[in-house]
Amino acid sequence: MHAETTKEQKTAALAAFKDLAREPGVPKPDPILVVDNVVRRFGGLTAVEVEHVEVQRGSITALIGPNGAGKTTFFNQLTGFDTADSGQWTFNGRNMNGVPAHKVARSGMVRTFQLTKALSKLTVLENMRLGAQAQKGETFWRALVPSLWRGQEDEITERAEELLTRFKLDAKRDDFAGSLSGGQRKLLEMARALMVRPELVMLDEPMAGVNPALTQSLLGHVKDLREQGMTVLFVEHDMDMVRDISDWVIVMAQGNVIAEGPPDTIMSDSRVIDAYLGAHHDAPLSEDELEQQLHEAEEELVAENEEEAKK
Ligand SMILES: Nc1ncnc2c1ncn2[C@@H]1O[C@H](COP(=O)(O)OP(=O)(O)O)[C@@H](O)[C@H]1O
Ligand SMILES: [Mg+2]
Repeated sequence: MHAETTKEQKTAALAAFKDLAREPGVPKPDPILVVDNVVRRFGGLTAVEVEHVEVQRGSITALIGPNGAGKTTFFNQLTGFDTADSGQWTFNGRNMNGVPAHKVARSGMVRTFQLTKALSKLTVLENMRLGAQAQKGETFWRALVPSLWRGQEDEITERAEELLTRFKLDAKRDDFAGSLSGGQRKLLEMARALMVRPELVMLDEPMAGVNPALTQSLLGHVKDLREQGMTVLFVEHDMDMVRDISDWVIVMAQGNVIAEGPPDTIMSDSRVIDAYLGAHHDAPLSEDELEQQLHEAEEELVAENEEEAKK
C-alpha cells in the first residue's frame, strides 16, 4: 500500500514533466516556486545570477552543478538567510524577497544545511522543539496567555515525538545532539525542518558525509516527503542518487541555470558535460569548502571507527 502511493505520486510528478521542453527556465504546469533575476555578488564574484527558474509542486527536483556553482548561495537567498542584491521570487504566488528566514519557514518553505546545524549541547528533543520556533506566535502574546502557551508546547512536544519515531530517533530523544553520528544528525535536521509542516523542503546535500548504512534510509525519507504531498528541492552530487529519487533536474554552473531535464538524460546534455569539465578545481578553497572537507574527513574517521569496533 505504502509502495503503491509512492508510485502514484511519482507517476503524477512525472506526468507533469512529460511534455516540458528541456530548456533552462522552462515554465512548469503548477510551480510552487518562481524565481526571476536573482543576483548575489561577493565583491567582484557573481555567485548567483539566475534569470528564471520554476519548481513544480509535488515533485522531487534535484539541483546539481559543480562545486562553487552557487547552489548553496541560491538556497540562502531564497530562504532569507542572506540578502540578494536584486531579483524576486514567489512562493505559492507570494513575494518572498526581503522576508527573513523565520518568516519564510513559517510560510511553508524550509531548508536544511550542507553542514548540519544541530545544536550539539541540546538534546535531540530540544533541537526538535527549536525547529517549531518559526511556528509559534508572538512571544508577547504567549507571555500574556500562559494556558494557550502551554497548550501549544504540548502540541509541539507531541509532534516532535511523532517525527522522532518516524525518523527512528525516538530512542535518542534525551541524548545530546552532539553524540549522534553524522547520518543521525542529518536525519535530525530533516525531522526538525518538518516541525513547521512545510510545503517546500529544500535540502542542501542531505546525503553528504552519511555512511552507506543510513543512505537508503535518508533516500526513503526524501521520497516520503513527496508522498505526503510536499515538494522537495535538493542539492546532491551523487548522480546515482539523483537518478534514483528525482523527477526533474536543474543544473547550475557559474551562478546560472544552464540546463534542465529528466534525470536519465541530463548527464548526457553537452551543456552539462561542459560545465562539469570546465569547472575550476584549482581555485582556492572557500571557508565553506574547507569546513566541508573537514566535516567529510571527520565522518570518514567516525565510520572507520565504527567499522573497527564491529571487528
Ligand atoms: N560568504 C561568502 N563570501 C564570499 N564568497 C562566497 C561566500 N559564499 C559563497 N561564496 C562563493 O560563491 C561561489 C558559490 O558558492 P556556493 O554557493 O557555496 O557554491 P555550491 O554550493 O554550488 O558549491 C563560490 O565561488 C564561493 O566561494
Ligand atoms: Mg554548496
